[in-house]
Amino acid sequence: MSSPQIEVLIPQEEIQKRITELGAQISADYGDRPLVLIGVLKGSFMFLADLVRAISSPVRIEFIGAKSYEGTSTSGQVQITKDLDKPISDEDILLVEDIIDTGLTLNYLLHVLSQRSPRSIRTVAFLDKPSRRRIEVKGDYIGFTIEDKFVIGYGLDFEQKYRNLKDLCILVP
Ligand code: IMP
Repeated sequence: MSSPQIEVLIPQEEIQKRITELGAQISADYGDRPLVLIGVLKGSFMFLADLVRAISSPVRIEFIGAKSYEGTSTSGQVQITKDLDKPISDEDILLVEDIIDTGLTLNYLLHVLSQRSPRSIRTVAFLDKPSRRRIEVKGDYIGFTIEDKFVIGYGLDFEQKYRNLKDLCILVP
């Protein structure tokens, strides 16, 4: 059985450079206002870990688990697999996503979280694949906009594998 070929799409140096820029922009926008970063598990864990170190505003970290994917095609169903530990009422929220693909997950999470009376909600996504959108939803801060290719690495998986790759890669069958 031949193993799939992995090609680098965005090297780690470029990822880190862009995250420094995103962190500076977010810090400038929020200043000293305390911010709750909500990482969407599992794909955002690496991006969140790097992004949080590039933000100078005071932050609290929360995680929410959401699942909508089976293999390489979306099922169109979003399920919360882990909820927040604490309430978010009157908090400024920054939802941290790995990728906005069809937009179904982000749309669902924004709907669920906005019902919990936060002061504000914005979204930062490491990646955006606008050509795949099935519902109109936009991220406020975007790391990279990419073409319609299935990507792995830097937290993103294919069947739970490859999350530990340092670069963002493409799986070539
Ligand atoms: P949605 O289609 O925008 O709801 O995206 C749901 C989730 O699918 C994302 O948060 C990712 O975890 C996953 N996903 C979408 N596109 C890719 C990809 O190219 N590689 C790996 N995971 C992806």
